Amino acid sequence: MRKNLDPSQLARDARFVRQTTEQRFEDTRNGTPVARVDADALDVGERARRRMHGIFVGEIQALEGAGRTAFDFDTDQVPFELKLDMARQCWDEARHCEISVKLAEHMGGQLGEYVESTTLFEAACHHDPAFRLAGVNRGLEGLAIDVFTQMREFGRETSDPVLTFCEDYMLADEVTHVNMGSRWLREITKDDKERRKGAIEFQRVVDGLFNFRGLRGEEAEAPIRLARQFRKMAGFTDEEVDDIVEMSRSARQDVAVAEA
Ligand SMILES: [Fe+2]
Ligand SMILES: [Fe+2]
Repeated sequence: MRKNLDPSQLARDARFVRQTTEQRFEDTRNGTPVARVDADALDVGERARRRMHGIFVGEIQALEGAGRTAFDFDTDQVPFELKLDMARQCWDEARHCEISVKLAEHMGGQLGEYVESTTLFEAACHHDPAFRLAGVNRGLEGLAIDVFTQMREFGRETSDPVLTFCEDYMLADEVTHVNMGSRWLREITKDDKERRKGAIEFQRVVDGLFNFRGLRGEEAEAPIRLARQFRKMAGFTDEEVDDIVEMSRSARQDVAVAEA
């Protein structure tokens, strides 16, 4: 079996349309950021279906990324227990894929209805496992903690037990995945502070991709609300959560200045 698969080699059927991170943020035909134009054009129901579709493809890539990390590195590069945790994560993500397909249908969506961004898998392609743990397990699965917490609340508010229970199950798993990222990042970089610093910087870059227009915050009206309590259970410090809030705030300011 081949190691280090490229994002262009992900196996998908004809329903899926793929978009790289570069394409996602820059329409090369006219320089307009694609993600921003799309979001503005959608109504509330469509936005929810689009988000659910984004979660579904994220779950597939989380499965593929964790599988890669379990397989790409030998035990002279990472501890065997780390590979074991990644294998366990694959099992969780496989269940999340099934749950997300059913939830997407529950919300009236269809597979392949929206473009699949390969950002998560791209982050899972880093040659250094410490960077994968930081970018994927802490950065993107940290984002999953926020999104699932918010969707669970939405399920409660709208008296939708299907949405509430599904999000609750997935949230519990994501806290475990982020915690594994925090633990193994600490462990494998304990004798190399520069490597740890580089991995955390990579996590910030990945986080920054999802701060586009300053979507994330702690205020009630924030499109993506940071779940500080669950993030702390998953090994984040208050300073790290503050940092994401601050990054998002300054992204919002940049947008305000650009639109003034
Ligand atoms: Fe997941
Ligand atoms: Fe996960």
